[in-house]
Amino acid sequence: MYTQAMDLMAKEGAPSARPLRSAEELKLEERFDARIDDGGFIEAKDWMPDHYRKTLVRQISQHAHSEIVGMLPEGNWVTRAPTLKRKAILLAKIQDEGGHGLYLYAAAETLGTSRDELLGALHSGKAKYSSIFNYPTLTWADVGVIGWLVDGAAIMNQVPLCRCSYAPYARAMIRICREESFHQRQGYDSLLVMMQNGTEAQRAMVQDAVNRWWWPSLMMFGPPDGESTHSAQSMRWGIKRISNDDLRQKFVDATVEQAKVLGVTMPDPDLKWNEERQHCDFGAIDWDEFWRVVGGEGPCNRERLGMRVKAWDDGAWVREAALAHAEKQAQRARQAAA
Ligand SMILES: [Fe+2]
Ligand SMILES: [Fe+2]
Repeated sequence: MYTQAMDLMAKEGAPSARPLRSAEELKLEERFDARIDDGGFIEAKDWMPDHYRKTLVRQISQHAHSEIVGMLPEGNWVTRAPTLKRKAILLAKIQDEGGHGLYLYAAAETLGTSRDELLGALHSGKAKYSSIFNYPTLTWADVGVIGWLVDGAAIMNQVPLCRCSYAPYARAMIRICREESFHQRQGYDSLLVMMQNGTEAQRAMVQDAVNRWWWPSLMMFGPPDGESTHSAQSMRWGIKRISNDDLRQKFVDATVEQAKVLGVTMPDPDLKWNEERQHCDFGAIDWDEFWRVVGGEGPCNRERLGMRVKAWDDGAWVREAALAHAEKQAQRARQAAA
């Protein structure tokens, strides 16, 4: 999932004072620009401007962090899934998210930043992850709504990244998107069962979950285009293909129809079809809440980060054992060769 936070951090790293470049560098940059303009891909070993590299490291690592932090709110429900089938689906989904994190960390490493460095930035609170994961999962319906809305928003965000100009990222995204579409469907399916075959209390539980997750999922697309100055550079580089607001609109248009089939209503009295625009109008997003959550003051920021750091610390012995084993094997190979 979850590319939203990237636009935020970039403001700090905007290319203000670029160093003077040599004639050779200028030539390389021209070649790079021409390849991007032709819709070509950049591979790990190709020359690239420093700022392009930094932007990608930040974006891909924030995306990776979001995948693995995103495992936590759903992980809370594994032991409380209502049936064996739902438990198996949820376990598989959470495992997929772990895999997405791994592909993405590997893609970020191709840009020359070590995984330890990337994880260090997450654990120290320096790096961001998608703000959506700082909301609590209060009932089983939240798990379904996360699949439907959060994975659904992630797909909207991520499908254009399959054509991202940095090839290792684009390749990772192709596989990730295939899996995300199953995540979205399993969430929707679980909600549909509750709405169509469930009790009155279950239907109310689904509606309550939709009420709580609707606005945060719209925030997943990041700040409005006007406030996302960095987007222009990312668009120029073919990292970003569609603007935040356009993606958000696409998501609203698609989701409103799905909500009708489900039989839930979105918590937005201004949500209505606009014949002239051929899109759904929707109400104002509470950007103060968004910035508060991004800034660390969401309902679960501390809990999520605390869990991540604990998991990392608890797993230290596994990493140490693997390194000791690798060293022992290398030693044996050296002895055999001697
Ligand atoms: Fe994912
Ligand atoms: Fe997912």
